[in-house]
Amino acid sequence: MNPKTCFAVLMAAALVRGAAGAEESMDAMWGEARAKKGAEASDRVALFRDGNYGMFMHWGLYSHLGGQWKDTTFYGIGEWIKRQMKIPDPEYMALASQFNPSEFDAREFARVAKSAGMRWIIITSKHHEGFAMFKSAHPFNIVDATPFARDPMKELAAACREAGLGFGFYYSHNQDWTAPGGSGGPEKNADGTPATFERYFREKCFPQVKELCTQYGPLNYIWFDTPGRIPKEYVMELAELVRKTQPGALLCSRIGHDLGDYASKGDMEVPPRNIDGLWETCDTTNDSWSYAWYDRNWKDAREILRRLVSTVARGGTYLLNVGPDGKGRIPAQAAKYLEKAGEWIRRHPQAVYAAGPSPWGRAMPWGDVTTQGDTLQLVVFDWPADGRLLLPGLQTEIAEARIAGGAPVKWAARGTWTEFQLPAAAPDRPASVVEVRLKGAPKADGTLGVHPNAAVTLPVEFAEVSGAEKKENRWMEKFGEWKHSTQAGKWTPAGKAVWTVDVCEAGDYRVDLVTKGEGRPVWRIATDGGSSLQNQQAASAIYHAQPYGLLTFAKPGRATVTVSLVEGADSTSLESIRFERAE
Ligand code: GLC
Repeated sequence: MNPKTCFAVLMAAALVRGAAGAEESMDAMWGEARAKKGAEASDRVALFRDGNYGMFMHWGLYSHLGGQWKDTTFYGIGEWIKRQMKIPDPEYMALASQFNPSEFDAREFARVAKSAGMRWIIITSKHHEGFAMFKSAHPFNIVDATPFARDPMKELAAACREAGLGFGFYYSHNQDWTAPGGSGGPEKNADGTPATFERYFREKCFPQVKELCTQYGPLNYIWFDTPGRIPKEYVMELAELVRKTQPGALLCSRIGHDLGDYASKGDMEVPPRNIDGLWETCDTTNDSWSYAWYDRNWKDAREILRRLVSTVARGGTYLLNVGPDGKGRIPAQAAKYLEKAGEWIRRHPQAVYAAGPSPWGRAMPWGDVTTQGDTLQLVVFDWPADGRLLLPGLQTEIAEARIAGGAPVKWAARGTWTEFQLPAAAPDRPASVVEVRLKGAPKADGTLGVHPNAAVTLPVEFAEVSGAEKKENRWMEKFGEWKHSTQAGKWTPAGKAVWTVDVCEAGDYRVDLVTKGEGRPVWRIATDGGSSLQNQQAASAIYHAQPYGLLTFAKPGRATVTVSLVEGADSTSLESIRFERAE
């Protein structure tokens, strides 16, 4: 079922079903945001659709290792350490006797999530390692196999309910590296007989999901992951179990076989274009999902907000992860910036909660746009130094513009563009919001703008490509840390990528190309107005921006920019073009 149809079915079902307990105690601001969108309190998708922001947590036995196995540091995503370092099952399973997250405080987890502005927590109840972070009949679990001997999932479910947060479980249903028959697990049972997925499913997976669905109160989500080649009948059984026992819970698409209620995008992916329907992107506060001692690549409040706002502006929901350590503590730097971002959200809730997608369908160079009914929320991360905020192609008349909660803002039309005259200093950090009330439903011409006062990146995603292969790609640089983009590769002599742009001001613009390949390819860049560049640069194996020169737009308005490969190896590929006005 496509997400849109799915949404309609869910809406209908929700009206019959009644409110999910955890949703009843949302705070006043939340109630207001929801009321604006006119959602029913009994709508089980409302939390996801309007909340727009949740906390993801990866916490398991791997957290005890924290990216270190004996003398070796594993720099990939920490929860994969067992598999990537080939730690033998008995040794890995024996780690449970040392795992004692004695500092764990469920209320502290809930407090951080809440002050971060998040609306729910989804936590790993069992990751691919096979260790249950809850009391289970299967003995490899935190209550029976560790000195900690408590059920942190019970405590967290209660703490979330108390704090008015939604709650859900991640469960790795297909991969289980320590259970015979689980995907990636031992091929033989303890008695030497061949292991089967059927037996793993009957003896561990299904009973554990049943435990989770029946012993932790009402759940908002069951987040199954990495379905791989799991046969459909198993997925159907799990989905049915969840539907029966947790009628208020949503399933993410990673359950497999299109049986989810909403689409989960690739890990760490903020898509470049608006996407319809219910979907989510999951991301993490540093590089790893689970705690890793060396990983201090924390997103600051600016980056968290930029990715959150862009996800909401693309029509999605942002699920942002933290990895508590082996003692059960959320790393201080992660909490610090999550909470700082939360303070901003409390000042500008309308930019996030129950906010609609951008009418432009893509980000702006200075930030992004969300909507509340007929009001645009211009979320400005890069405050223009010359005080001119430029918006291309707005097609609905403006009634009023003001700094959110502050002074009115003047505006003027400049051809197809609208220019807002802003005060010299940004009124807020890391972003300011300009609210633009329109005289009707927001409409915009989606043509890409070349801004005179902000560097603009135009991804290949938005180009017409012929004679080369345009392809969505994902790859990892560090293990498990995914990157995503659309690229044009396999160039033929006639190959070209053409962007149609709307130029605000004539002038010279510095052009960078983001490419990869080998050797020293030669690229040509030309406008339909007769300006062109042709130059050579050294290519590298990963995408990299390099300067090609100054291109001239002789007049404002529509133009095309065509990029072609003049010389280059087969591996040469193009990801985007960048323009920055020469001063
Ligand atoms: C993956 C990984 C994983 C992580 C997850 C988060 O698919 O296998 O370790 O839990 O993505 O989205």
